[in-house]
Amino acid sequence: MLTRLLPQLQISPDDLGVGALDPAGLFGPDVRAVWLEVGFGAGEHLAAMAKAHPDIGFLGCEPFINGVARLLVDVEELGLSNIRIVVDDAGLLLDRLALASIERAFLLFPDPWPKRRHNRRRFIGQENIQAMARVLTDGAHWRMATDHMDYCRWMLDHMTGSQEFEWLARRPGDWRRRPDDWPPTRYEGKGIEAGRPPAFLTFQRRKRHQMAQVSRGTL
Ligand SMILES: C[S@@+](CC[C@H](N)C(=O)[O-])C[C@H]1O[C@@H](n2cnc3c(N)ncnc32)[C@H](O)[C@@H]1O
Repeated sequence: MLTRLLPQLQISPDDLGVGALDPAGLFGPDVRAVWLEVGFGAGEHLAAMAKAHPDIGFLGCEPFINGVARLLVDVEELGLSNIRIVVDDAGLLLDRLALASIERAFLLFPDPWPKRRHNRRRFIGQENIQAMARVLTDGAHWRMATDHMDYCRWMLDHMTGSQEFEWLARRPGDWRRRPDDWPPTRYEGKGIEAGRPPAFLTFQRRKRHQMAQVSRGTL
């Protein structure tokens, strides 16, 4: 499967210049927008979303080749034609993507790097937040989940501290309960089994012209 299917679906960011990749061009004319999943693991969320949204092109990024192989089984079994795969670090892909080219992003159960001296390896940090803000369209949603409460606080601190994103939760149920259109993943199951209930966070990328008005003090 890896040798047969992967070459048809794989995108190599190394071959592209900075900001050069318009991801819509990777898909057919029926695709109206592109969504991105960072660190898809075994790909169960990515495959379920691609099946549920045939009018969306899905870019999945995962350096762990066993996870990619598992996703390819689903791609074949479900006959999915709207997934493209980057087997690499998402930071590299974000650099290559064109400005405002992704309409929704997912970061589900990223590695928590629990030791304090390793915290800076976490995916959420200034650099990746800025990179994601550049590639997301105005009003785009960025969904994140974690079962690690320290990382949850870290996500909230970093995201609410950035000018570009607003947390959409209004009441506890909004982050304690996974929305119905959000398929579960393997790591969510592991967390629940271990007695660590996950948090489901949705952020919205602020509109660019509103941000300019805020910084000029006219809003
Ligand atoms: C804890 S697993 C979660 C997998 C999956 N999202 C889930 O919920 O089951 C974290 C995943 O992120 C991937 N990962 C870590 N750093 C990454 C990066 N910089 N870019 C893309 N993926 C990354 C790892 O290979 C791993 O598969």
